[in-house]
Amino acid sequence: MSDQYILAIETSCDETACAVVKNGTEIVANVVASQIESHKRFGGVVPEIASRHHVEQMTIVLAETLKKAQLTIDEMDAIAVTEGPGLVGALLVGVNAAKALAFAKQKPLLGVHHIAGHIYANRLTKEFEFPLLALVVSGGHTELILMKEHGVFEIIGETRDDAAGEAYDKVARTLALPYPGGPLIDQLASEGDDTLHFPRAWLEEGSYDFSFSGLKSAVINKLHNAEQRGEEIKREDVAASFQASVVEVLSTKTHKAAKQYGVKQVIVAGGVAANKGLRAELNRIFAQENMELLIPPLHLCTDNAAMIAAAGSIAYHLGHRADWDLNANPSLSL
Ligand code: KG4
Ligand code: ZN
Repeated sequence: MSDQYILAIETSCDETACAVVKNGTEIVANVVASQIESHKRFGGVVPEIASRHHVEQMTIVLAETLKKAQLTIDEMDAIAVTEGPGLVGALLVGVNAAKALAFAKQKPLLGVHHIAGHIYANRLTKEFEFPLLALVVSGGHTELILMKEHGVFEIIGETRDDAAGEAYDKVARTLALPYPGGPLIDQLASEGDDTLHFPRAWLEEGSYDFSFSGLKSAVINKLHNAEQRGEEIKREDVAASFQASVVEVLSTKTHKAAKQYGVKQVIVAGGVAANKGLRAELNRIFAQENMELLIPPLHLCTDNAAMIAAAGSIAYHLGHRADWDLNANPSLSL
């Protein structure tokens, strides 16, 4: 069988990304242009600025990707693109670029769900074995997803309010740390201790749902009260205590669900999968279980297009094809 090459585009948030992946598992080229510097001074992603940057960067990132891959679009089997969820104006840039390329070169067009992409980032390092459980933790999502076969996703738990990454970014903001705060809290946490014992939101017995807004409020109230009383709390301890609560709930629920569903693999996906505390705790737990734990290398945890190509490769195999009227869908469901 001849090799399969997928070109993918990802523009759902603040990274303009393009990649070529061979046979669904081998990265040939993976280029990410980050806009973080432009959004930093606003404390978060400004949708209008994100869209404008994508327009400026799209063709540059595409050209660089093809140059690195030493391939042409004619050699691609299909063009994959993130169709949602995400910022609508940002998604539209990628969707229109992919449609233009696919139409001009008469290549199959594949619409990919951003979260399917985060999950399939793991297949760039290891073949999937089913059933598997995916813990998806990003800036917009916190979900436990059961997969019994390729391309079919069953959500068994999700956040009822803030996503894990969102909670990290909001707590970081109250600590006057710049956006995105997740990596900075992670760093501070390693220099402090869980002295504040913030609450753990377990929710009802047996529920695999999550809630982080109460924890976020507990952190804000603690800081506010300390300030009023003139007490000094070490930022490192706030970060360590917040992270201890997030990591304990995420890893305990993942462990329980993995055992209940008797999965062969547990995979972690999304930006918060880069968290050192979470990685260490999951590694500790699953070292004692007869299940394989997969966590992508750091550069594949945050948004990139290689993961979209990996998910697109499966969609291509399954015969999924997008029509020329493919549109950005900011609230696309899995
Ligand atoms: O998956 P991603 O790149 O974008 C979305 O699809 O949302 O995730 C970004 C999120 C941000 O909230 C960021 O603060 C968080 O991932 N993040 C982290 C770490 N690295 C990135 N959160 C905690 N610890 C980290 N090391
Ligand atoms: Zn993402």
